[in-house]
Amino acid sequence: MACILAPSLLAADFLHLGDDIDLINQSDAHWLHIDIMDGLFVPNISFGQTLLPFIRERSEKPLDVHLMIEEPSRYISQFAELGANVLTIHYEAERHVHRVIHAIKEKGMKAGLAINPHTSVDLLDDILEDVDLVLLMSVNPGFGGQKFIYQTIPKIRKLKTKAIERNLSFHIEIDGGVGLHNAEAILDAGADVLVAGSSVFSSDDPKATIEKFLAICSSFHSQ
Ligand code: DX5
Ligand code: ZN
Repeated sequence: MACILAPSLLAADFLHLGDDIDLINQSDAHWLHIDIMDGLFVPNISFGQTLLPFIRERSEKPLDVHLMIEEPSRYISQFAELGANVLTIHYEAERHVHRVIHAIKEKGMKAGLAINPHTSVDLLDDILEDVDLVLLMSVNPGFGGQKFIYQTIPKIRKLKTKAIERNLSFHIEIDGGVGLHNAEAILDAGADVLVAGSSVFSSDDPKATIEKFLAICSSFHSQ
């Protein structure tokens, strides 16, 4: 797989969620990205556990759940039961990151660790062996439709260098402001998972946009 595309449901039409999930099902996008916000860790509240069973039931794609909540350790078992396949917590929101990363894996999910734009990838040095995925926020979390923060590019390069030097194969996922205009630069820096919210769902033809993203993925990796 050249890269993993994870359309973010946050940008979908909430009055027609089923239709938008079907659109992803019918596409070659790989994961469905689900943003859970608590109004504390981020200044917004999205949706929570009551909606997850409906999404799980309808989606044929792995659910890539991004928890933007304080003390995510409280909810690991619940999200496992709700059918999350990848569960990502924020480094800034949890005191005992190592314990929670292992709790996620013990529940059979891939364990992801996210950092905000101001957080250095160097702070992850002692946990890189343990994670399946590192999510670099390329906007301040909480809202879709924001502008990509370009300082993310050197962060991706630095993290990818650490992975290569230490022979680690965790995914590097980029979330926020990802579009067709910057996907190649992001992949070129070393990322392999692209979250795309408004660039997919707010485009005139979401299916065609997904195909364009996937074409960038494969052309990049065949170079
Ligand atoms: C933002 C969320 C993102 C959001 C991305 O806090 O974590 O997943 O859906 O939206 P876009 O792609 O529109 O920036
Ligand atoms: Zn997200």
